[in-house]
Amino acid sequence: MNKIQKLYRLGNAKWYDIFKPIWNWMVSRKAEKKLARFLKDNLNEDIEILELGCGTALNLEKIQKLNLPFKHYHGLDFSEDMLKIARAKFSQENVSFKHQDLSKLDNHEKKADVILCTWVLSHLPHPATIISNAQKLLKKDGQMFLIFLSEPKWFIRFWFNPIAKYIFKSKYISNEIIGQFENVRLVKHYSANLVSVTVVCD
Ligand SMILES: C[S@@+](CC[C@H](N)C(=O)[O-])C[C@H]1O[C@@H](n2cnc3c(N)ncnc32)[C@H](O)[C@@H]1O
Repeated sequence: MNKIQKLYRLGNAKWYDIFKPIWNWMVSRKAEKKLARFLKDNLNEDIEILELGCGTALNLEKIQKLNLPFKHYHGLDFSEDMLKIARAKFSQENVSFKHQDLSKLDNHEKKADVILCTWVLSHLPHPATIISNAQKLLKKDGQMFLIFLSEPKWFIRFWFNPIAKYIFKSKYISNEIIGQFENVRLVKHYSANLVSVTVVCD
């Protein structure tokens, strides 16, 4: 078990659904609105969704709360404890979860119309490579929606750096890394640059 898997062991996994709305309210309201808009604009009954690092499936809950249709949702995560919570929430036939390390994402995964990846990139050693591999899993005209931690302005950085590093075990995604993403359709920064939203296509 690596340090990220340890971070999302049952103790923390249980608290995740309580912590995340607070985090969203404090720093990520605009990014969440952007995600809701993206989902409303892009989901319909023919759409297959793949989520990378689905955690406790809060994004699927969001889709459900928005009452949006989809054909199939497939969530990948390498924390069994987060997946256990996600699986307990959904029993529909068109929802599936799989234990999968994203750094070993194999290109035999079924292709998707929409890929979601929120608050995961900062945990990955080679985020740009994983995005590039994931893009191969997009169907023609497919889109991937990303929310991630990026380097904030100095007045946030000086107190948030230790929290990011030691509590969240996360690295900021630099502009240099964002520059390595291909077929970028949208880049937005929020909350003094702490939160970034990117849409890339196939
Ligand atoms: C902050 S949570 C985000 C969960 C969900 N995407 C959300 O926005 O609520 C990060 C998730 O990414 C998963 N994760 C981190 N690195 C991973 C990797 N290499 N492979 C698979 N999952 C990973 C963790 O297990 C955790 O569930």
